[in-house]
Amino acid sequence: MSDTMITAARAILAQNDRGTYTVPTQGLYPFQWNWDSCLSAIGFGHFDEARAWTEIETLFAHQWDDGMVPHIIFHEFDDGYFPGPDVWRTGRAVPTTGITQPAVAGFAVRRLFERARDSDMARSRARALLPRIAAWHDWFFRCRDPRGTGLVAIIHPWESGRDNSVDWDAALDRVPTEGVEPFTRRDTQHANPAHRPTDDQYNRFIWLVQHFRDLGWDNAKLHDASPFRVVDPGFNAILIRACADLAWLAETLDMPEIAARSRAQADKGIAAMETLWSDAHGQYLCFDRAIDAMVPSQSIGGLLATFAAIPQSRASAIAQRIATLGEKLPYLVPSHDPSAPEYDGKRYWRGPIWLIVNYMIADGLAAAGQTAVVERIVSDSLRLIDRGGFAEYYDPMTGEGCGGGSFTWTAAMVIEFLTGERQPA
Ligand code: GLC
Repeated sequence: MSDTMITAARAILAQNDRGTYTVPTQGLYPFQWNWDSCLSAIGFGHFDEARAWTEIETLFAHQWDDGMVPHIIFHEFDDGYFPGPDVWRTGRAVPTTGITQPAVAGFAVRRLFERARDSDMARSRARALLPRIAAWHDWFFRCRDPRGTGLVAIIHPWESGRDNSVDWDAALDRVPTEGVEPFTRRDTQHANPAHRPTDDQYNRFIWLVQHFRDLGWDNAKLHDASPFRVVDPGFNAILIRACADLAWLAETLDMPEIAARSRAQADKGIAAMETLWSDAHGQYLCFDRAIDAMVPSQSIGGLLATFAAIPQSRASAIAQRIATLGEKLPYLVPSHDPSAPEYDGKRYWRGPIWLIVNYMIADGLAAAGQTAVVERIVSDSLRLIDRGGFAEYYDPMTGEGCGGGSFTWTAAMVIEFLTGERQPA
C-alpha cells in the first residue's frame, strides 16, 4: 500500500515540476510559492537530491536586496491567478509579490543536509545558501520586529500561510476597503467558493496590497504603517526553528558568525514565545500588535508552536489538547477548534486539516517524546490520502478532500511520512 502511495506522490511532484521550481498545483496556483517550495524540496530529497537543492536555490535567486524572500515568484505569465504582477507592481525583472511567507527554508536545508547521500554536494550547496537564509532571518528581526521583542509580526494574512484563519478576523475588520480597485477573483473559478475565503476578506487583502504598494514596498516603513500587525505563534515557531537549524548548520560548516547570530535569534525567540502562552486556552495565542491585545482564537497556529524547542511542559499540554480534539474527530489536526462558532470544516484555514501542518506538529511533538499523539497524526494523515486523495486540505469530520487537487506539498509530505525518520529538534 505504501509503495503505491509513494509512486502516486512522486507522479504528482513530476506533474507539477517546472524544471527549476514546482507549482503547488496546476490551475489554481501556477507560480512558485515560498513555503510550498521548501517543504516540497524535502519530498524531492528522497529520490532526487540535486533537484531538491535546486528548488530552494531558485527561490533564493529572487531574494530582495533587503533580505526578504517573496511569497510568490511569477516565473511565467499566467492570467489564471489573481492578484498577479500588475497588482503587486514590485518593479522586479522577474515579478514577485512584496510580502513574505513562513521561513521554513532553514529547516528544509538542514533536513536535506542531514539526509544527504551525496554529502559533498550537500556541503557546497548548503554553504552557498546559508548566508542568504541568514539575511532573510535578519530582515525579519529588523523589519518585522522593529522594537526588538524577539517575535516578528506579519503585516498581511497571506504572509502567515493561513490566509483566512479566524485569528485574523478582528484585525482584518479594522482594515478599510475604501479605494480598492475593482477586481475579479480567479481562485473561485478553480475551486469551490464555499471552500475559499469570502469576498469581504479578499477586499481587505487587496486593500493592504495597494497600501503597501503606495508606500513603495519600502520594508523600513511597512510594519509601522500597516493597520494589520499580528504576532502568530506558529509563524514565529517556524522562524525560531529555522534559526536554530541554521545555527546547527553553520556550526557544522564552520561559519561561526552565522552560527552565533542565528543561535542568539533562536534563544531570544524561544524566551519571548512565553508571552503568547495562555493557560486558559491550553495553547499559544496570537497577539495583535496594532492594539496590544491577545487574540482569543484557538487555531492551529498555537499548536504549531511545538515545531520550535518550546518547554516540555508546553509541548505536553499541546499534545494533550490535540489528543482531546482526537476524541471528537475522526481525523487530526483541525486548523481551528471545532467547538468554536467560527469553525467551518471545509473552508480553507477555518477548520480543515493541512498535511504540512500535521507534519510540522508531528515533528515537534516527536522531539518532545509525545509518541502516541505523533502516531495518531501520522496515521490520520495517511488515511486522509486514502479517503480524499492528494488534496490541498481535508474536512476533519468526513475526510473529504477540498480545494485544489494533485497538490505538491501534500504529496511531498506523504513521501516524508512514509520514508523519512523524524529527528530531534
Ligand atoms: C494558499 C495557502 C498558502 C499556500 C498557497 C499555495 O494561499 O493558504 O499557505 O502557500 O495557497 O499552496
